[in-house]
Amino acid sequence: MFRVSATASLLLLIVAVAQELIVTATQDLPEGFPKCKRDANFDKCLVDAVNKAIVLLKDGNKEFGIPPLEPLSVKKLVIDAGNAPINLRQALKNVKVHDMISTSKILRYRTDLDKHLIICESRTDRIEMIGEYEMSGRILLLPITGHGKANVTLVNTKIEHRLIGEPFEKDGVKYMRLKDYRVSFDPKRVYVNFENLFNDKTLSDGMNRFLNENWDTVFNELKPGYAKSFGLIFRELSNKLFEKVPFDTIFLS
Ligand SMILES: *[C@@H]1O[C@H](CO)[C@@H](O)[C@H](O)[C@H]1NC(C)=O
Repeated sequence: MFRVSATASLLLLIVAVAQELIVTATQDLPEGFPKCKRDANFDKCLVDAVNKAIVLLKDGNKEFGIPPLEPLSVKKLVIDAGNAPINLRQALKNVKVHDMISTSKILRYRTDLDKHLIICESRTDRIEMIGEYEMSGRILLLPITGHGKANVTLVNTKIEHRLIGEPFEKDGVKYMRLKDYRVSFDPKRVYVNFENLFNDKTLSDGMNRFLNENWDTVFNELKPGYAKSFGLIFRELSNKLFEKVPFDTIFLS
């Protein structure tokens, strides 16, 4: 009788301790991630820390559910350009984004963590998107339609990232998730190749030549669509860390 109840209370104690551990155990950043103290040097420290972290994340991280980032697989990018003179619907499917991580460098951070705001400027030498496209509409008044293989390559791109966070609590611990991630692209040059436009090789070659000669005007119209798509991708990836690791564990007080 005594033995049974002693065993029972020991079991209860173990269960209680285990529950306590589960409740209080919070996740840390992936191994090797440098951390920064929120002092006067914080923004500078973050530049080096995140540049190192990006390299560590290149092949993904199973524990955090982060897929390999190089190449980054994207199921679908829908780019709508509704403004004249371009009125176009473009979808890229089964896209592999090459070189984006290994050729990226963060240049500057400006943060206001009290407002959960992080602004960052980066430069990426090469973003090569290879996939299938579907397109219909008009570009510079010319009708354009087709589907086939696509290559959209951005060279020497300045990117501004605006991470807008909001705090939330889990088991009394503060976390921050990103509710918005705004991206703006400023490439030095964009190369496009859409195979099989109009289902006609000669017309397709001519149109591709035209698109590349006028890349600036063409891409300016498509830019907001690409920026929106990448913002959603970056937000989802960032939140895999932000939603699991407490705010004060990421940003040391
Ligand atoms: C995509 O286009 C870029 C720029 O023209 C080129 O350097 C690259 O080799 C192309 N990639 C493929 C897979 O064709």
